[in-house]
Amino acid sequence: MTGMCSHNAQLRDASQLHFPSPAMIGGPSVSSERARPLIAMENISKTYTTTLGARVKALEGVDFTISDGEFISIVGPSGCGKSTLLRMIAGLSGVSSGRLTVDGTPVTGPSADVGIVFQHPTLLPWMTVRENIRLPLRVGAYPPIHQSRVDALLSMVGLAPFANAYPYELSGGMQQRAAICRALVRNPKVLLLDEPFGALDALTREHMNIEMQKIWLSNRNTVLLVTHSISEAIFLGDRVIVMSPRPGRVICDRRIELERPRNFKDTVVDPRYLRLTADVRDLLTQGAGE
Ligand SMILES: Nc1ncnc2c1ncn2[C@@H]1O[C@H](COP(=O)(O)OP(=O)(O)O)[C@@H](O)[C@H]1O
Ligand SMILES: [Mg+2]
Repeated sequence: MTGMCSHNAQLRDASQLHFPSPAMIGGPSVSSERARPLIAMENISKTYTTTLGARVKALEGVDFTISDGEFISIVGPSGCGKSTLLRMIAGLSGVSSGRLTVDGTPVTGPSADVGIVFQHPTLLPWMTVRENIRLPLRVGAYPPIHQSRVDALLSMVGLAPFANAYPYELSGGMQQRAAICRALVRNPKVLLLDEPFGALDALTREHMNIEMQKIWLSNRNTVLLVTHSISEAIFLGDRVIVMSPRPGRVICDRRIELERPRNFKDTVVDPRYLRLTADVRDLLTQGAGE
């Protein structure tokens, strides 16, 4: 695995480094390219106490930074703390130790700067698509200009003709596009996607990957995508972060040097894509064997 993050070495390194080294990401250091990170995770650990009093260490020594406008893909085995990580960035769950900042400010609770999309679209069934997307605007005082965003977002994801439809009238992919619009309606700096395409069939998922790339290229929000699909992670990301089994640590952080916009036809035969895919699969398989 030349140029690849060695599994065990990385386990050690990830807890010590504040920025991924060039060797970790197979390219120039992220910290040297842009100034201040938008999201900074410094030696973060998270331990849950279950209702029966057992302690579950979900994350340990998670330490990496994300620049403004980056698209980060996160892969790792089930239960390694990926959702926990996103929930902490969203301010829905606190860190047990370490420091987590968004835009230089420690995260203490939910913020309009961060939008989140879950695996299931969680649209309210008694509201139309438009009403669902407008829902976050009811919280807090938003100037009228934000109202017109709804139409712009609906057009961007091809849902304008369905603005007044109810969720049950939409396909799974359309519902998920509506959920992405809802997360984007307050124009958050950070968009968190927790396996958003996991419940979709393969072709719809590919289509959503193309849509997601379009959305990101036109919005340039900072995106963290958690996915079980290695190909989705590499197709969409600027970097792919691989996590170890629980307690989750960063075992690899690699830059994806594929030009954008990407399309499946060319990307899936690109030697860089094939190499990265194989490397990430190797890491996940080693992790599963431990
Ligand atoms: N609220 C909770 N209370 C107790 N344990 C939890 C809670 N949420 C998650 N966990 C545990 O933390 C670990 C990480 O969970 P999660 O972040 O959902 O993992 P992933 O998203 O990678 O599958 C799992 O072992 C899970 O059982
Ligand atoms: Mg999860």
